[in-house]
Amino acid sequence: MSSKGEIKRLFEPESVAVIGASGTPGKIGYSVVRNLKNGGYEGKVYPINPKADEILGFKSYSGIGKVDGPVDLTVITVPASLTLESVKEAVAKGTKYITIITSGFGEVGDYETEHKIVACANEGGARVLGPNIFGVFSAAGKCNSTFSANNILAGNVAILTQSGALGIAMIGKTAAANIGLSVMASIGNKSDLDEADCLEYVIHDNNTKSILMYVEGIKDGIRFMDTLKRATAVKPVVVLKAGRSERGAMAAASHTGSLAGSDEIFDAVIKQCGAARAETLEEAFNWCNFMANSPPPKKDNFVIVTNGGGIGVMATDACEQYSIPLYDDQDKLKEAFSPMTPAFGSVKNPIDITGGATSKDYNLALEASAVTKEIDGGVMALYCETATFDTENLTPMVRDTYKRHMELGKPIVYALVGGEAVSDSIRTLQKDRIPAFSDVMHAVSSLGTAYNYYNYLAKVNNSVEWAKIDTKAINAIVDAALAEGRSFLLANEGSAAMKAAGVSIPESLVATTPEQASEFAEKMGYPVVMKVVSRDILHKSDAGGVILGIKNKEGVAGAYDTIMKNCKNYNANAVIDGIEVTQMVSSGTEFIVGGRRDPAFGPVVMFGLGGVYVEVIKDVVFRALPINRQEAENMLSSIKSAKFLTGVRGQEPRDTDSIIDAIIKVSTILNECPKITDIEINPIVVYEKGKGLKAVDSRIMIEK
Ligand code: ACO
Repeated sequence: MSSKGEIKRLFEPESVAVIGASGTPGKIGYSVVRNLKNGGYEGKVYPINPKADEILGFKSYSGIGKVDGPVDLTVITVPASLTLESVKEAVAKGTKYITIITSGFGEVGDYETEHKIVACANEGGARVLGPNIFGVFSAAGKCNSTFSANNILAGNVAILTQSGALGIAMIGKTAAANIGLSVMASIGNKSDLDEADCLEYVIHDNNTKSILMYVEGIKDGIRFMDTLKRATAVKPVVVLKAGRSERGAMAAASHTGSLAGSDEIFDAVIKQCGAARAETLEEAFNWCNFMANSPPPKKDNFVIVTNGGGIGVMATDACEQYSIPLYDDQDKLKEAFSPMTPAFGSVKNPIDITGGATSKDYNLALEASAVTKEIDGGVMALYCETATFDTENLTPMVRDTYKRHMELGKPIVYALVGGEAVSDSIRTLQKDRIPAFSDVMHAVSSLGTAYNYYNYLAKVNNSVEWAKIDTKAINAIVDAALAEGRSFLLANEGSAAMKAAGVSIPESLVATTPEQASEFAEKMGYPVVMKVVSRDILHKSDAGGVILGIKNKEGVAGAYDTIMKNCKNYNANAVIDGIEVTQMVSSGTEFIVGGRRDPAFGPVVMFGLGGVYVEVIKDVVFRALPINRQEAENMLSSIKSAKFLTGVRGQEPRDTDSIIDAIIKVSTILNECPKITDIEINPIVVYEKGKGLKAVDSRIMIEK
């Protein structure tokens, strides 16, 4: 089978056969041959058609077997009923790559033919892209083997898209916005090759400076993550994924015949791999185009220059959203910007050169932002149309100041807000790939995405860390539970597993009589918690199987009877093994640490704000394995309630090291105990720095 290194031949083939080529304009088989011809393809083109002698000036063959030379790429544009036969012929000819434009396979339920096609191709050493695609374009190969637009503008943004129709629309949109493409590949049903294979090519493609991926669902998440990490190590990647809502995910799944993974996990994985996630096509284009054509921010000091207070505030808010740090040295700012700022303006960042500013004032202010060394991150230049500004000078002012920043290697974005003349100016500037936008958010988010990417590159650390845990003991507990036909561990087994993993738990013992329970409680000291231990009761609180804060011997005996009664009422047939008596932990901050196995991305760990309202608050973050302490630390700072960790309302900072340890221990359990499917430690009560934590309750699910 063709190896990964050869994927280049799919994008830059030396010869292309088109089975189903047609001389009739309007037919897909015609358009592919026309696009190869008009795109300036320099390799050999072999139209295959049983009736034609010549198509668009190329000699046509009645069968691919009749072609003399080798065929690197075969494009199939015959109807679905003829596709398998055509694949067989292409494979017999020794083609390495087959792109199948034809629709009517997995996406409409015919997986059987799709599987046959792939099996036939792979057995013969060929790889398949598609079916149900519009084709592949590569600027390096001057090869447009798509049936879409005739005139793809060559440039430096690569687009990989699962949706064909959207891909065709993107070609039109990029051409209109003068965004040049280095690669365009439609992935379709992903019967064999997928986005990871195409990424492999663009990683090495020198023309590609940024990558836009439209994804609906990922089948092999682990390979996708590996390839994505290697891609972001060398160029920025922006991912646009449909299917955030449940209905959207269902539509995506039926659209492409692939499983759309859970969106939270996908989102986490994208960020973990250093890619940006765009919400809209426009955002994705803006970010990719900006990052492909702008120098990277060097450091962390940014300025906003504006003639309007309102847009200055909007930009400041957007900076916070994208974690863009605004330069704060008041003396330096004053020195740089006071010459062109009236007394009633502001030289505090945002620099407000006021509504009276002319193009000359902008030129001066933006010259100052260009040459001030301390402004080493980038510049956001905002403009509101005013009566005093000499509008005819807007375009030259932007052009000149942009040029100046580029000469000095400093990124700059422009947000120009106004009427028709301003819109004309933006269109003109965009044609020259100058990052001018009509919206403040588009300008700031483009710079912010670039900043976050270069920040990621500066900090990325893919080392892997596991904890030392007693895997043998945990697996023995799991095997014993499986032998009893259970799909979860009992409370005491969960505690034993936590102990074996080295996660600190409160002292506890299982009693089988009220007397024994009292005896244990007396030994532990009050208060205690009592919980039912039953294989038939997974949700203990729902069954009334948990009583907290028991303060004395009488209370223990009473609680024992109450729990027994409650649980029998909840499930009369429940077998109750006993009641666990646990030391009640002193109060701290409640978090949740857990993990599960995602169908696409494999084992993932979770951290967030814990307690009984976890499902309502949903302040949790995920990471796919493997991770290290740095990534675990990122998880801690990524939750919305991260301030609880640093200490709120006079509280001491929490013991974050012990949470990081717990996350690494849970990830090690998932890695080393393959029969454990889900772990949830909630609450995990965390104390002040140096005082550790206690895993109060754990739920562990195992595969049946
Ligand atoms: N070998 C070679 N050529 C053959 C063979 C053969 N065994 N048998 C027939 N042909 C020729 C036909 O004679 C015809 O050429 P002609 O115009 O000279 O007669 C040509 O192959 C095409 O065959 P048609 O029967 O005319 O098929 P048509 O072009 O109508 O449709 C197509 C074929 C386009 C593949 C169609 O079946 C299809 O799948 N359309 C959807 C494509 C699509 O949308 N793909 C997804 C894109 S992404 C998106 O979402 C936009």
